[in-house]
Amino acid sequence: MNEQQRKEAGLVKTPEAPSNEKDYSQYFQTVYAAPSLKDAKKRGKEEISYHDDFKIDERFQGMGTGRKFYIRTYGCQMNEHDTEVMAGIFRGLGYEPTDTVEDANVILLNTCAIRENAENKVFGELGHLKALKRRNPDVLIGICGCMSQEESVVNKVLKTYDQVDMIFGTHNIHRLPHILHEAYFSKEMVVEVWSKEGDIIENLPKARIGNTKAWVNIMYGCDKFCTYCIVPYTRGKERSRRPADIIQEVRQLAAQGYQEITVLGQNVNAYGKDFDDVDYRFGDLMDDLRKIDIARIRFTTSHPRDFDDHLIEVLAKGGNLVDHIHLPVQSGSSEILKIMARKYTREHYLELAQKIKTAIPNVTLTTDIIVGFPNETDEQFEETMSLYKEVGFDTAYTYIYSPREGTPAAKMVDNIPMEVKKQRLQRLNALVNETSAEAMKPYKGKIVEVLVDGESKKNPEVLAGYTEKNKLVNFKAPHSVIGKIVNVKIIEAKTWSLDGEYIGVVEKEKVMI
Ligand code: SAH
Ligand code: SF4
Ligand code: F3S
Repeated sequence: MNEQQRKEAGLVKTPEAPSNEKDYSQYFQTVYAAPSLKDAKKRGKEEISYHDDFKIDERFQGMGTGRKFYIRTYGCQMNEHDTEVMAGIFRGLGYEPTDTVEDANVILLNTCAIRENAENKVFGELGHLKALKRRNPDVLIGICGCMSQEESVVNKVLKTYDQVDMIFGTHNIHRLPHILHEAYFSKEMVVEVWSKEGDIIENLPKARIGNTKAWVNIMYGCDKFCTYCIVPYTRGKERSRRPADIIQEVRQLAAQGYQEITVLGQNVNAYGKDFDDVDYRFGDLMDDLRKIDIARIRFTTSHPRDFDDHLIEVLAKGGNLVDHIHLPVQSGSSEILKIMARKYTREHYLELAQKIKTAIPNVTLTTDIIVGFPNETDEQFEETMSLYKEVGFDTAYTYIYSPREGTPAAKMVDNIPMEVKKQRLQRLNALVNETSAEAMKPYKGKIVEVLVDGESKKNPEVLAGYTEKNKLVNFKAPHSVIGKIVNVKIIEAKTWSLDGEYIGVVEKEKVMI
């Protein structure tokens, strides 16, 4: 993209010139496009175009020959999958992967901005990489992912982290070859972050991790604008992939022998809302995916707001659609939910959970909860505790609210001391531990089907895998069963995992529904 094209795309914006002359030495960077949260918030009416014309420019062919790349991924599955795409592009350029930073010629940090501690981890890592860069000035260090979409982060990196060679955002990972090229030649920090989401590019290469489980994006972005959340700014507006492209990708994965796919979106229930030519929503997509011969289909993450009856009906058909639903509630207080702009009430959530349980009696529900939202009272927190018990969740991811610059909640005056928030988190976590342990108990003595991931983290002689309901199972078995679905008899139920005895591989008839 040349200067003119960048201007036309509204991408040219440099950070504020520093007021202090001393800072000017750092200001002369190659800034092609810097992020703006204000621009990222805009939701235009313009249509999304779909492309399948990605190819690696001839100029860049062989750029990576004899070179290695290393990507460290932070954050959610969306980032994990973006890393697979970037790894695919690196491979296409001739780079080889490495899992040690010392061996790498290019190091990328694919970052997450969801909470302050996620960002601190990245700044800490950048600190470590400074020494490496000093020892090996030729290594290229890049920052991508959600933190790159934040103005404050980019300005901080420009000012204080001169070990960084390039910054690019979530909307332009397909530009990786150009960005690398510029970074090699300019020897100045290259910044190319688009604030506005791009089009959907269908044929990006992917170097998937493993050959058993795969991520499949069905949509990008989020339009919900929950008041605490940075994602709508870092990932742009909601845009859905076309059904045929998704179905084809899943079919291909099934043909390649993948056993499980996880359908990805920040808010999968909003799938298809942006189509104006067809009436095809998430329930329809799941109904079509269900017919593909692949053992398990999961989805993440769903928002209670768009969880409609048709979807419940489809999920109730079972088959390869797993009976585990992750349904973030965030709070049990209708007042807090309102200020969070979640657009549902405690009662609505309880009703929905009940409806799901009635339609899918065997369902397992898990959730996400934020404690210590600005001015959350003790009573409101107690409502979260009681809702958690009432729904009967197996387990939850729990967080202390973290203010994110640029979001409406960050401007709210908060009179709740951190000590109180920590105590609430402790109480909630004690409850979550209890329910998790309770949910494990009934498995003792039962035989479960486990999709074997590989060696367990703690002991290479023990294998580990997950049940349909996402319960971690450890057991001893020959390594030849890795990647297969096996029967395991549960001997011991712990709080977070199950120990079992291997019985044998599950032989399934291939059934077309
Ligand atoms: N799209 C998903 C959530 C993605 S972020 C959904 O709406 O369900 C994953 C989780 O991080 C959220 O569910 C929320 O619990 C938590 N989270 C998001 N922003 C946060 C913040 N500012 N502070 C603390 N936790 C946050
Ligand atoms: Fe964030 Fe809300 Fe969107 Fe989830 S639905 S990504 S919490 S804004
Ligand atoms: Fe983090 Fe971005 Fe995912 S902020 S949670 S990596 S969408």
